[in-house]
Amino acid sequence: MQDQLDKIVKETQDALSNAKDTASLEALRVKVLGKKGSMTQILRGMGAVSADQRPAMGRLVNEVRAKLEELINRQAENLSRMEKEMRLKLEAVDVTIPGTEPVMGKLHPLTQVVRQVQDIFVGMGFAVADGPEVETDHYNFELLNVPKNHPARDMQDSFYINGEIVLRTHTSPVQARIMTTRKPPIRIICPGRVYRVDQVDATHSPVFHQIEGLVIDKGIHLGHLKGTLDEFARRMYGESVKTRFRPSFFPFTEPSAEVDISCYLCGGKDPNCRVCHGSGWIEVLGCGMVNPNVLTMCGIDPQEYSGFAFGMGLDRITNGKYGITDLRLLFENDLRFLDQF
Ligand code: DAH
Repeated sequence: MQDQLDKIVKETQDALSNAKDTASLEALRVKVLGKKGSMTQILRGMGAVSADQRPAMGRLVNEVRAKLEELINRQAENLSRMEKEMRLKLEAVDVTIPGTEPVMGKLHPLTQVVRQVQDIFVGMGFAVADGPEVETDHYNFELLNVPKNHPARDMQDSFYINGEIVLRTHTSPVQARIMTTRKPPIRIICPGRVYRVDQVDATHSPVFHQIEGLVIDKGIHLGHLKGTLDEFARRMYGESVKTRFRPSFFPFTEPSAEVDISCYLCGGKDPNCRVCHGSGWIEVLGCGMVNPNVLTMCGIDPQEYSGFAFGMGLDRITNGKYGITDLRLLFENDLRFLDQF
């Protein structure tokens, strides 16, 4: 029996050094100390030991059993500590490591300007309207008092899809669309893309952007137009900016004017100013009182209602504001350029 015990102790010690995880250690524990384990078998065999040897043998067996149990327990503690340390190391998060910075997009400078202009007019009670870029000749020209063969059509050499359909040459057809579908009072602005046949260069593009404004109500007069545009200029360019109304011609307004603002950059003092080129004035928009013919064609009685309209190019405003000297940059979508705004 002594031999048997020695063998079990040796085998268990060998197995212990091979038990690399708690699972195999638990298997060993069952194999030695479990119900059918080797030490349990030995205890069962005590009956066969002669009565005089039994007490000494019993003590020895119990000692060995206790020793093995302690060895296994100690190893169990070791293993579980090591496993815990390993897990902590593997799952460690270093909260001091700098994160990956997400790439933030930006609004196109033109979009920023559209929103700024829009906000100013919305603040004055205008609603934002929308119209199609592929337009009919009817809305783009006819309803705006530009009949076929009218010389004013020459100012806007257009992309015709066919005789009746055209890429809109200005945002003004949205005026006609609104007037033919809504009852006054009307107070809208409509930003959007417009198209004209043009050679691409630093100041010309066949695609560009405008924002149109229209107000129709009872008793609207030139004073409302002037007040509205003056207020716009001040909010857009600063309190000290002045406006200048020059008589002009548009078929859809009568009287018509072009509006300049005093140079917000040099105030007219720099003969080489990149915005006003020394003139002290910057041309920003066309406007006028809606021609009674247009009101009538759009189903609004000019005896009852009157109104004003204006339209301005947004690309030039954007370039002036940001000091962009080549219009093409706005359309090339080069992130190295767009990232600067
Ligand atoms: N549609 C004109 C253009 O593209 C701009 C314009 C002038 C719009 C006068 C208007 C206006 O509404 O009243 O040149």
